[in-house]
Amino acid sequence: MRSPPQVEFQTISSSPQRSEALGAALGRLLGAGDVVALSGPLGAGKTVFCRGIGLGWGADRPLTSPTYNLVHEHERAGDDLRLIHIDLYRIAGADDAHSLGLEDYLAADDILILEWAERIADALPAQRLWVDIAHRPGQQREFNIEAQGERPCALGETWRRQIAAAV
Ligand SMILES: Nc1ncnc2c1ncn2[C@@H]1O[C@H](COP(=O)(O)OP(=O)(O)OP(=O)(O)O)[C@@H](O)[C@H]1O
Ligand SMILES: [Mg+2]
Repeated sequence: MRSPPQVEFQTISSSPQRSEALGAALGRLLGAGDVVALSGPLGAGKTVFCRGIGLGWGADRPLTSPTYNLVHEHERAGDDLRLIHIDLYRIAGADDAHSLGLEDYLAADDILILEWAERIADALPAQRLWVDIAHRPGQQREFNIEAQGERPCALGETWRRQIAAAV
């Protein structure tokens, strides 16, 4: 059974630019071993948000929708951290999930960003930041954020304060 979230908040984005900025603010805070799980329907804005994360983190290449590879590995200047962007939309099942090398990325303390994370929720560590994005009228999107565990909660709380301060 899932343990209850320890940090939970909501924010509304009114444009793709705003969603990207929300991602960039989070991206600036990410460190080794952080896991960000994203859920939400087609076109919700998961990839737009990821693009922002990549910009904020300083990824060597833009974070984009994968065409063939489910997994995109990113680096940045200045340290040895890696940011792994995974899109599970085309995942076929548990075997396929296993072949992603998730355990290796987790063991290496890489930063993991997962789109359609609900498809492998059971394989994810309990300590993660979960961001669910839902459509609202027009260009509005509702972001629901949940964190569990010490580090994800600290991360979520810092991000929440930055969002509140920037409004
Ligand atoms: N507030 C908003 N935030 C994010 N995207 C928005 C917003 N308003 C409109 N959009 C548009 O919605 C689309 C979101 O596309 P995006 O590829 O990010 O979705 P996705 O959740 O990754 O979908 P998929 O599951 O197909 O990968 C873009 O075309 C974007 O311009
Ligand atoms: Mg996407």
